[in-house]
Amino acid sequence: MAVLKIPEHGRTLTTREEIAAYLAGCGIEYNHWSAEHQVAVDAPPEEILHAYAKEIEALKARGGYVTADVIDVNAETPGLEAMLAKFNREHWHSEDEVRFIVAGRGLFHIHPKNSAVVAIEVEAGDLITIPRETWHWFDLCSDRRIRAIRLFQDTQGWTPYYTDSGVDQNFQPVCLGQAYFPLSAGEAS
Ligand SMILES: [Fe+2]
Repeated sequence: MAVLKIPEHGRTLTTREEIAAYLAGCGIEYNHWSAEHQVAVDAPPEEILHAYAKEIEALKARGGYVTADVIDVNAETPGLEAMLAKFNREHWHSEDEVRFIVAGRGLFHIHPKNSAVVAIEVEAGDLITIPRETWHWFDLCSDRRIRAIRLFQDTQGWTPYYTDSGVDQNFQPVCLGQAYFPLSAGEAS
C-alpha cells in the first residue's frame, strides 16, 4: 500500500483517499489507476505504453505532456547508484515530474513552500504528479526496484536543479511500508 508520512507532525496516512486529499493540499496530484489492464509488469515497454494508452493520452491532453516512456531499474542496473545520487538530493525541475508505477516501489520526499516535508512511498498502480519547481527528492527502497511510466512536457527540461538547502539530510530514506507495517509471521519466515 502507498504510505504517506509527515515526520514533523508524527502523522502517517495509509488510505488512498487520505493521501490524495493531503497531497492535493500541497499541490501534488496523487491517483491510482485500476489494475484492469491485462499486461505483465515485465512486458516490453511498448506493450506497457499500449496497455495504458487511454490514461496516458488523457494525461497528455490535461498536462501538455508530449512524450511517454518506461524507466526500468533494478539492483543489477549498471550505474544505478550514480543515477540515484542525482535525484536523492533536494532539487526541482522546470517541468512536471509525472510517474505511474508499474512495478516496484519508491520514496519521494516533497518539500512544499509553506508546509512540512512529506514522505510518500509509491507502489504499483500509483500515479504521482509533482509540479514544476516543486522541491523534492527521490530514493529507491531497499529492493532497488522500480518500473514506471514517465511523461514529459519537454525532455530537455528534465534536469535536476539542486537547492543545497540541506533539508534532505534530516530525513531517512527508509521506505515507510517496511518501517510501519512489520512483516506478518508468514512473510517473515
Ligand atoms: Fe526529480
